[in-house]
Amino acid sequence: MGQAKTKINFDSDWSYDPAPQATDFIKLQERYGLYIDGKFKPSENGRSFHTINPATEEKLAEVSEASEKDVNRAVRSAKEAYEKVWSKISPKERGKYVYRIARLIQERAREFAVIETMDGGKPIRESRDIDIPLAAAHFFYYAGWADKLDYAFPGRKTKPLGVAGQIIPWNFPLLMAAWKIAPAIATGNTVVLKPAETTPLTALKLAEVIQEADLPPGVVNIITGAGETGSHLVNHPKVNKIAFTGSTEVGKIIQKSLAGTGKSYTLELGGKAANIIFEDAAIDQAVEGIINGIFFNQGHVCCAGSRLFVQESIADELLRKLQDRMATLIVGDPLDKNSDIGAINSKDQLEKIKFFEKIGVKEGGSIYQPDCTLPKKGFWYPPTLFTDVSQSHRVVQEEIFGPVLAIQTFRTVDEVIQKANNTPYGLSGGVWTEKGSKYFKVTKAIRAGVIWANTFNKFDPASPFGGYKESGVGREGGISGLSAYVELV
Ligand code: NAI
Ligand code: MG
Repeated sequence: MGQAKTKINFDSDWSYDPAPQATDFIKLQERYGLYIDGKFKPSENGRSFHTINPATEEKLAEVSEASEKDVNRAVRSAKEAYEKVWSKISPKERGKYVYRIARLIQERAREFAVIETMDGGKPIRESRDIDIPLAAAHFFYYAGWADKLDYAFPGRKTKPLGVAGQIIPWNFPLLMAAWKIAPAIATGNTVVLKPAETTPLTALKLAEVIQEADLPPGVVNIITGAGETGSHLVNHPKVNKIAFTGSTEVGKIIQKSLAGTGKSYTLELGGKAANIIFEDAAIDQAVEGIINGIFFNQGHVCCAGSRLFVQESIADELLRKLQDRMATLIVGDPLDKNSDIGAINSKDQLEKIKFFEKIGVKEGGSIYQPDCTLPKKGFWYPPTLFTDVSQSHRVVQEEIFGPVLAIQTFRTVDEVIQKANNTPYGLSGGVWTEKGSKYFKVTKAIRAGVIWANTFNKFDPASPFGGYKESGVGREGGISGLSAYVELV
C-alpha cells in the first residue's frame, strides 16, 4: 500500500481555517414595536428606522422610533406599575423575578451572543465569553440583594426612587441594559430604558425575555429611538432618576437639563485611561494586557487603555514585542470564532477614528499599522499605534473610541503619575509592575474610578464602576450600585 506524501511548506504563513458561528437558529422579527406595559406596539406615528450589521452593511430589522407621546405612554406605564404593583410586593418576590430574568438570559445565551455580534460588530468570542455571561451575572448579583437591603445599609431603611429613565450606548448593548435594569428593579424602582440606535436588538430580545419571565406589565419598558427620544425621557417630569452611559458631550447636555429638577442621576461618560508599564513588569504579560486594554471590542470601550506609558529603559523592547503581537491579530468577520477584532460599530464611528488618524499624523505622530487585508464591505479599521506623540497631542488628549493607542515614555514614578493625571477624564487605569509597593503608590495617586494592577478590563458585578472629572458622576455595580437607586430613610 502506498502512503500519500504530505508536503509541508515551512515557509508558509500559519493561518486559521474559518470557524464560523452558525446563525441559522436566529429568529429576528422583520419589524419590532416598542415594549410598553408588557406588550410590543408600534410607535404612535408609525415612524421607524432600521438597524444594520456593520460587518456586512445588511439590514437586520426595522425598529420603531418612539415619539414624545410614546415616551409619555412608557413613563405612565412605569409610574402605574410602580405605584400599584412593584412598590407593594415583597422584596423576596421582586428578587424571584430578577433571578428568572438571569436564568432566561443564560438559557438563551448563544442566541443573545450571536445577535449582539450581528447588530454591533463585536467578535463572537467576546459577546459569547464576556458580554452575555456578565449580563446574566449582573441580574443574578442584584437578584440576591433584593431582599437583603437592610444588610447593605445597616441601621437604615431604603426607599426606591420611583421611575428610572435609562439611556445606554452601543458598545456593550445587553451588558449596559443589565447594569441599568438589574439594580433598579431589584431595589423596587420601575424602568424605561432606551438602547442606542445602532444596536437595539439585544435590548428588544431582553424585552421578550422579560415578557416570558412574567414580570408585571410596566415594571420594565424598552423603547427605541435616537437622541431625541432620549431627551424626551430625560426631560419627562414624572421620571425620578436618570441613568446615562454615553459620550461626555451628551452627558453634559443631560446634566444641564437636570439641574434644579430634583431628579437624581448617574452619568457614566468617556475616558482616556493611562496604562503604565514599569521596567520591572513581566513584559510578555504586559504586552497581552496592552492588547486587551486597547483592542478589546475594537477599542469602543470607555475604560480602554488608550494612553500607554512605558518606562524608557524597556521602551524599545516593548514596542517591538507589541508590534509583533499586533501583527498576529485577526481582523475580520465578527462571527468567525478566530476573529480578534471585529467591525467598527457604525460608519460615523469609523469616520471619527479616521479623522483622528489624520490629526495624529498632521500633528507629527508616527503611525504603525500591521499589514492586514480588510473586508471590502462593512466598516473596518486596523489596530493602530502612534509613537512620537506628547501630552499636548490630540490623539493623547481626546477619546477616540477606536483601536488606536498613543504611546509615551517616562523615567520616574512621579513623572508618570503627573502625566497619567494630565487628562480631563478619570475613569480607569492600569499599572504593571512586579513590586507591590509601587502599584499601591501609583494606583492611589491616579485619580480614576477603577485601576487594574497587572491586568486590564476585568469586570465583576460586585465591583463598583464609574468616574471622576469629565468621566461622570456616581457608581454602578456592587453596593454602590444599589445606593444609586434608593433613598436612605
Ligand atoms: P451618544 O452619547 O450620543 O449616545 C449614547 C446614548 O445617548 C444613545 O442611546 C443616544 O441615542 C443617546 N442620546 C444622544 N443624544 C441624547 C440626548 N440629547 N439626550 C438623551 N439621550 C441622548 O454617543 P454617540 O453619538 O453614539 O457616540 C459619540 C461618541 O461618544 C463616540 O465616538 C465615543 O467617543 C463616545 N461614546 C462614549 C461612550 C462611553 O461609554 N464612554 C459610549 C458611546 C459613545
Ligand atoms: Mg446595528
